[in-house]
Amino acid sequence: MTEEGTKLNWGILATGHIAGAFAEGVQHSRSGRLAAVASRSQESADRFADQFGGIANRHPSYDLLLEDPDVEAVYIATPHPMHKEWAIRAAQAGKHILCEKPIGMDFDEAEQIIAAARENDVFLMEAYMYRCSAQTAEIVRLISEGAIGEVKSIEASFSFDIGPNPDGRHLNKALGGGGILDVGGYPMSMAMLVAGVACGKGYAEPDAIKAVGHLGETGVDEYTSAVALFPGGITARLSCGVALEEPINVSIAGTEGRIFVPLPWKPAQKGGATQLQLFRPGNDDPEVIEVVSGDHLYGAEADTVARYLDARQACSPAMGWDETLGLMRALDAWKAEIGLSYGD
Ligand SMILES: NC(=O)c1ccc[n+]([C@@H]2O[C@H](COP(=O)([O-])OP(=O)(O)OC[C@H]3O[C@@H](n4cnc5c(N)ncnc54)[C@H](OP(=O)(O)O)[C@@H]3O)[C@@H](O)[C@H]2O)c1
Repeated sequence: MTEEGTKLNWGILATGHIAGAFAEGVQHSRSGRLAAVASRSQESADRFADQFGGIANRHPSYDLLLEDPDVEAVYIATPHPMHKEWAIRAAQAGKHILCEKPIGMDFDEAEQIIAAARENDVFLMEAYMYRCSAQTAEIVRLISEGAIGEVKSIEASFSFDIGPNPDGRHLNKALGGGGILDVGGYPMSMAMLVAGVACGKGYAEPDAIKAVGHLGETGVDEYTSAVALFPGGITARLSCGVALEEPINVSIAGTEGRIFVPLPWKPAQKGGATQLQLFRPGNDDPEVIEVVSGDHLYGAEADTVARYLDARQACSPAMGWDETLGLMRALDAWKAEIGLSYGD
């Protein structure tokens, strides 16, 4: 989006599951255009390009995508251990960056990626798409307007059972498998957002984290739960996993009520209505708050990049650089608590 009225030209780096969801999002966005795709194989790049409206530039290597003058912004959709290399190289190539979550394997990698974005003066955002949704904006509004009084406690979860998955990344340690890195960032970042808004800020980091978890035979965390203490005495109970199906939701309790979020992470992916439930003390019948959005969830994420492009980073509730660093610090603490390390 170099000139007013023109679209931001996206290059998609990798052609797996989430790359397809984001490409569909760009097609439905207000600001984006699919300019190029790259895969480690020409065949996969061609298949992806054909699937998403005939993307013009299809590259058989990620390097060629970074050399493509038609590409202004790169969407990095590899497994997490490759995020650092490609995000830094994209920054050095002068491309704006939306990098899938987690932005790196740990705080140290996140710092290096952010430093590269700063040095090369490009936009960078970690792709927690739920932060760009109308539903998350409504949760922020309700908390900041005191709809449930003073926030005291948060419960948040994101767990699924990937099942037998020998070729997939979810249980493969070399590909960054495990629950905390794959989905633990969702409940932790939600707690950071809510606790922050409750304290009048964009986000807050936990003062303390305790956790237990189960490491499976591949050495990654199959399921784990953490408790965290935030400023203002706000407590959080957070769960995640990739080998156990559990309820996925968010509950935020305050002195004057509770907000229940049945679909916290992927509300209305193609646009439409979602519902928040507002419970008052002593009343089991919730007030239903309907949130309607005309935006595709991943299209809204692409539009968030375009909106903040000139500022080089997004504003809360989308992920800014300091919050990404705070989140990675919190996930590192969670990993350490359960003895999870990717160092060997
Ligand atoms: N925000 C969300 O909603 C969301 C949802 C799911 C995943 N994610 C994140 O997105 C990233 C990718 O997840 P995914 O589910 O899309 O994974 P995936 O389906 O396994 O796809 C990953 C892609 O990365 C490329 N790749 C490069 N090096 C690879 C290697 N050594 N092994 C395997 N693939 C390699 C491949 O594309 P080519 O063959 O084309 O090179 C592959 O298709 C992860 O970091 C994950 O946390 C985000």
